[in-house]
Amino acid sequence: MDTVVLSLGGSILVRDEDNSQYIQELAEMLVEVSNATRVFVVTGGGRIARYYIREGRALCAPESYLDEMGIEVTRLNARLLIAALGEHSNHTPPKDYEEAVLAAKDNRIVVMGGVSPGITTDAVSSILAEHVRASRVVNATSVDGVYTADPAKNPSARRIPKMSHEELLDIVSATPSKAGPTVVFEAAGASVLSRAGIPISVVDGRDIPNLRSALEGKAFEGTSVG
Ligand code: UTP
Repeated sequence: MDTVVLSLGGSILVRDEDNSQYIQELAEMLVEVSNATRVFVVTGGGRIARYYIREGRALCAPESYLDEMGIEVTRLNARLLIAALGEHSNHTPPKDYEEAVLAAKDNRIVVMGGVSPGITTDAVSSILAEHVRASRVVNATSVDGVYTADPAKNPSARRIPKMSHEELLDIVSATPSKAGPTVVFEAAGASVLSRAGIPISVVDGRDIPNLRSALEGKAFEGTSVG
């Protein structure tokens, strides 16, 4: 059976407005995809994680402690998707890669959050993808692909439909290694996937049919890395 890892950005799962309908539709789509594909989902922390990291930093907590708080939030976000998936997924987010592999023995969909300090859930998704020999990693964010510059700040930025791992690494490796960064895909994760030769699909996670195409390895709107 084909295996895919979905890195689900916290910005997709946690929004200002009521998001339960989106999460329900996402869960229904994942259940359908899981009929033919084993699905691992790694949820990000989003603005809730950033809140704790910002407040903790103002209180002079060490960076690794801020990371631990971020990890707790990613696991809480995992529980939100698990709540929508019900019997179709694991009940408690696995705390490491071995637990995730074990959970996959009983569940076609496994949902988890972060694992260890100093990385983000993009890297967790990438290491997990190598562990479970995934065919691809799908990065679902609130941007519809990798751009030549930050599209929120630069109106002339354009989306790159296809690129190599090396080109992605060039774009993302200038990121600072503090708790709570926001880049399209974390450099550590991109480097793991480059080494393993696992392709990455970057898509806007709010567009569920498009996200489904990316998960199923079909043509999609976004950026194809690999
Ligand atoms: P995210 O994976 O959400 O990181 O983890 P991010 O890139 O800041 O957020 P998005 O993509 O915009 O949602 C949130 C924070 O939790 C800690 C890090 O501090 C990270 O910035 N974290 C997460 C870890 O230390 N280890 C992990 O395995 C996961």
